Amino acid sequence: MHNSDDYRFATKVIHAGQRPDDWEGATHPPICQSASHRHPTAENLSDTFGGKNKDHIYMRLTNPTNRVLEEKLNALEEGRGAVSMSSGMAAITNACMALLRAGDEFVCGNSLFMSTYLLFANVFKKYDIKARFVESTDLDAIRNAINDKTRFIYLETIGNPKMDVPDLAATAKLAHDHGLPLLVDNTLATPYLCRPLTLGADVVIHSTTKYLSGHGAATGGVVIDGGNFDWQSGRFADFKPFVDRKGPLAYLDKVWREHHINFGTTMAPQHAFLTMIGLDTLALRMERHMANTQKVATFLYERPEVQWVRYPGLAGHPNHELANRQFGGKGYGGVLAFGLKDQAECFRFINSLKLVYHLANLGDCKSLVIHPASSQYLSFPAATREDLLITSDLVRLSVGIEAVEDITADLAQALDNLQD
Ligand SMILES: Cc1ncc(COP(=O)(O)O)c(C=O)c1O
Repeated sequence: MHNSDDYRFATKVIHAGQRPDDWEGATHPPICQSASHRHPTAENLSDTFGGKNKDHIYMRLTNPTNRVLEEKLNALEEGRGAVSMSSGMAAITNACMALLRAGDEFVCGNSLFMSTYLLFANVFKKYDIKARFVESTDLDAIRNAINDKTRFIYLETIGNPKMDVPDLAATAKLAHDHGLPLLVDNTLATPYLCRPLTLGADVVIHSTTKYLSGHGAATGGVVIDGGNFDWQSGRFADFKPFVDRKGPLAYLDKVWREHHINFGTTMAPQHAFLTMIGLDTLALRMERHMANTQKVATFLYERPEVQWVRYPGLAGHPNHELANRQFGGKGYGGVLAFGLKDQAECFRFINSLKLVYHLANLGDCKSLVIHPASSQYLSFPAATREDLLITSDLVRLSVGIEAVEDITADLAQALDNLQD
């Protein structure tokens, strides 16, 4: 019964992919620390290379520990197949590269994670690939940006630090009406809050470094294929060999065969193991992250030093109603942004914090703070930063699962310090 699809999420997150009988009764999969695997016969290795069995060949290609993580994440996102990778950025790069050729275009939201933005805006440009950035929540802008060179639409479930929430079902419909797949980075929402494939998206990507592993101890990424897109349609003639080989999983095969194994973006099995340890508590952690974040958002909103708060859980947020519907009332994520008077006040506030860690990450159990304009986005032209709403008065907070009274007490003493 360990793989039952009928389990509720909180059960599935612990039991999906579990095979203790294959692991001599162990409740965790062994860390398979072997660069390659011995094959009994030349015929067997040839069959494995030919895709006739799922045996392992070489760690860069597949690994038994990683495969368990892939099965778990695939089950949680209700996909048809998954490939784990060394980081979220590796997953994003491979997921997009599998679709792109020189001269192609794609349409993407403009509230993207910093490295994703730089990859799309600068790196892809070197290969004559154009990313058309539009407001993630503006369906007309997305529609108007599509042309005959477009290969896909790309969004994040919750933009960061813009904190906007696009309508995934409506965007998926728009994409499909134009014969395009929708790719969604679901890192900030996690499958606890939102499962984009069930809303019509075709591909889900995660940085597992964040909430999925949850403890800031492992990096990783994953690409999950919903297996529903018709890759035999006009725009994707180049998918034919992959369709012939893998049918509905043609895209995942292309991601894996053409990019992942040749770019060498393999997740270390220790990181897969650590990610699975973290995954066991995902449901509990997300409940607490989101309950704490709602309270912290309200606390900040009521403080006179705070000029504004952006969190989809606040009734005044422009996407509040949509987020409520799309996330089934479960919550609104664990990250928020708020404004102080200016950059100097942001620095003073951050330097006064005692409990909250100042660092570049999110989705850890610990509360984390950063001033994005002067750190992650420092190299961005000022005009681009303004477009992305990364203003110099903005502080980003990833709210942890500590006692919320201790988090708000730390924020309160740092805000009090601004009065001196
Ligand atoms: C939404 C989102 N996607 C992708 C990434 C990249 O993930 P990684 O750092 O694992 O490469 C991040 C990292 O912060 C992120 O926040």
